[in-house]
Amino acid sequence: MTKPFHLAWFMNFSVDEWNAPFSAGGEPWSGEFYVNMAKAMERACFDYIMIEDTLMVSDAFGGSMEAYLKYALMGPKGDPAPLAALIASNTTKLGVVATLSTMAYPPFMLARLCSTLDSIAGGRFGWNIVTSGENYAAMNFGMDELPPRQARYDMADEYVELVKQLWDSWEPDAVVRDRATDTYVDHAKVHPINFEGKFYKCRGPLNCVRSPQGRPTFVQAGGSPRGRQFAAETADSIIAAASGTAAMKEYRDDIRKRAAAAGRDPDEIKVFFIVTPVLAETEAMAREKFDFYASSEGFLVKTLASISSVTDIDFSQFSLDEELPRMTTNGEQGSLEAFAQWGTGKTLRQLVADRATRGLDGIVGTPDQVASRLGEVMEEVGGDGFLITSPFQKVSNQYVVEICEGLVPALQRLGLTRTSYGHEPKLLRERLREF
Ligand SMILES: Cc1cc2nc3c(=O)[nH]c(=O)nc-3n(C[C@H](O)[C@H](O)[C@H](O)COP(=O)(O)O)c2cc1C
Repeated sequence: MTKPFHLAWFMNFSVDEWNAPFSAGGEPWSGEFYVNMAKAMERACFDYIMIEDTLMVSDAFGGSMEAYLKYALMGPKGDPAPLAALIASNTTKLGVVATLSTMAYPPFMLARLCSTLDSIAGGRFGWNIVTSGENYAAMNFGMDELPPRQARYDMADEYVELVKQLWDSWEPDAVVRDRATDTYVDHAKVHPINFEGKFYKCRGPLNCVRSPQGRPTFVQAGGSPRGRQFAAETADSIIAAASGTAAMKEYRDDIRKRAAAAGRDPDEIKVFFIVTPVLAETEAMAREKFDFYASSEGFLVKTLASISSVTDIDFSQFSLDEELPRMTTNGEQGSLEAFAQWGTGKTLRQLVADRATRGLDGIVGTPDQVASRLGEVMEEVGGDGFLITSPFQKVSNQYVVEICEGLVPALQRLGLTRTSYGHEPKLLRERLREF
């Protein structure tokens, strides 16, 4: 039998599919919409829900904010940290991952925030480590422009080292709660870190208790060689965009090779590939649904504006009926490469059409068809799981139901994904390492 694989969900705390026929109406700001979504994922035994974040309003597409605000693309979005707390307090098994940028938070603040969230979540919290990839994000934090990728990751290496020391500044048994001596914390078990690096300086110790996981589960999404190296050395789980099975396999093999070279057990790292199933009762209906959305007005602009935003490249400048020139970006290089599919000869228009399926064939169909296709893909790639997200930018309750009550049961019938979390409470990091 095929080895089982893991499931996670990728979302942002933003507007739902507000004007679609089945819609919650575009007011998710209380968080309730996403709490309900997370509960559906917990019933389907997902490993984690991951909340994406960026820290700016873009005008990368055509030099105007219009597309982004008009279509509510990449925003408006709420802060992932309070939503993570809300989801955690309304679930019991599901992992909750929030994106927090090393560029935005002073290390002490991030360490304390993650520790508090992990305590609230009973050891189910994960930190998606990002360095931010947009000039405007940098400009919102007092810089004139985004530092080059190499510098961002060099800083991130040191940053992670620092926050790990802060999380270890409380020994596991520092809280004694000894009534007889009126002692809550044994002060001898809490230590300043006196960290002095090239970029950061911090005295420590942390001023909150050690959380159930000690440190949060680390999630990362490095795409460039430098980003992959960082992910391979640091992450417990990696989320990746790769176009097609060959690219997925290459990515995972490369990560595992880098991890082993860095002295890690590659099995400690679970790689999740982004996937966007389109489901219906019959294949023809699923295809029709796909075409309905992919040919809808605005799909082209929304897709180009999204890719412009994460790459800081203005895609309005290119002809739709020609191949894209080779380019590099100081932003999301991996996402650019997955989108551009250089070497395939595809025109920009074809690349936009591929975007909805992220270049993976066989994922438009019935739950049973898509489930067996995902099984095949995992078998070829070698593991470890999929990061599901909605194909058309926004999410609806309907889509969540189709995945959690259609696709997942089909996967379970094939023995491909978890049917229960088991009775033992588990830390997120342990849950990921179950298989
Ligand atoms: C599935 C996925 C999710 C990502 N989520 C975020 C995010 O929430 N915030 C962010 O700033 N970057 C996000 N990124 C970008 C990565 O952090 C990373 O910068 C990107 O993959 C490019 O890799 P590189 O930094 O090595 O060039 C995401 C990337 C992928 C593939």
